[in-house]
Amino acid sequence: MNINEEIHKLKKERRAVILAHNYQVPEVQDIADYVGDSLGLSIQAARTDAEVIVFCGVHFMAETAKILSPDKKVLLPDLHAGCPMADMIDAEQLRALKAQHPKAKVICYVNTTAAVKAECDLCCTSANAVKMVGEVLKDAEEIIFVPDQYLAAYVTAKTGRKMITWQGCCPTHAKILPEHLLEGKKRRPAAEIIAHPECRPEVTRIADVVASTEGMLTYIRDSKTKEFIVGTEQGIIHRMQKQNPDKQFYEPAKAAICPDMKRITLEKVLRSLKDMVHEISVPPETADRARTSIRRMLDHVD
Ligand code: 13P
Ligand code: SF4
Repeated sequence: MNINEEIHKLKKERRAVILAHNYQVPEVQDIADYVGDSLGLSIQAARTDAEVIVFCGVHFMAETAKILSPDKKVLLPDLHAGCPMADMIDAEQLRALKAQHPKAKVICYVNTTAAVKAECDLCCTSANAVKMVGEVLKDAEEIIFVPDQYLAAYVTAKTGRKMITWQGCCPTHAKILPEHLLEGKKRRPAAEIIAHPECRPEVTRIADVVASTEGMLTYIRDSKTKEFIVGTEQGIIHRMQKQNPDKQFYEPAKAAICPDMKRITLEKVLRSLKDMVHEISVPPETADRARTSIRRMLDHVD
């Protein structure tokens, strides 16, 4: 039996579902039952009737799945797959910021720990941050948005809403510079630049399209354009190419690779299912408070 067959067999025996983020390595994406962005993965985690969720992504995503499905076993194949941006703010720092702005509504990017989510009114992903701030929080006197300063800048550019922000960012997306994309555009003038809102404002300003990873895939599918310069983590090109064999996708001059997303391998997925590791747990009181802010986000999915 090869490794894929072993994984499929064990998955059935364990009544498990494999969820994978768009940045996972191709072979992990190909073994998954569902591949998507943070919002899509949260929806799947909340809906699944499987007993075990093997989460091929990073720690905060598995934590979100556990919060949404507390009765299920959630496994992260590599416990060291974290998100440096999520670690840029902790609950104590957020409480101190809230104390300075007691009237502010607090919204956090899903790329945060459960303890930070527990301190917030609302959660968002890159797919719905503009809607959450522009519509759901439109009557808020003040808004605190943590931890991604670039996503916050993008939301402000789209909604006109000034916010109290935090100096966090994604180190992988921050490495993408306008010149890396424009170089590609010089060589491929017909190509469109698509960028993730975690990119620097200098990048999102020159992009033809700014979207979450799933939003990018939808845009590409519906577009007549045949060539794209991809301003996000390179793992997504696998799905872009698979779904659009007639289109061309180019990495920026310097490829953006998230080392944490790349920690998950087929071997680790197999071990996860064999030994039921590594189980994610969230203290119930933290989970209950965090669930409220995540649920509010899911209530506003189109
Ligand atoms: P989305 O897939 O939700 O756009 O998120 C991107 C990301 O960086 C996840 O860590
Ligand atoms: Fe975190 Fe950035 Fe990696 Fe996403 S790509 S997991 S935001 S470091």
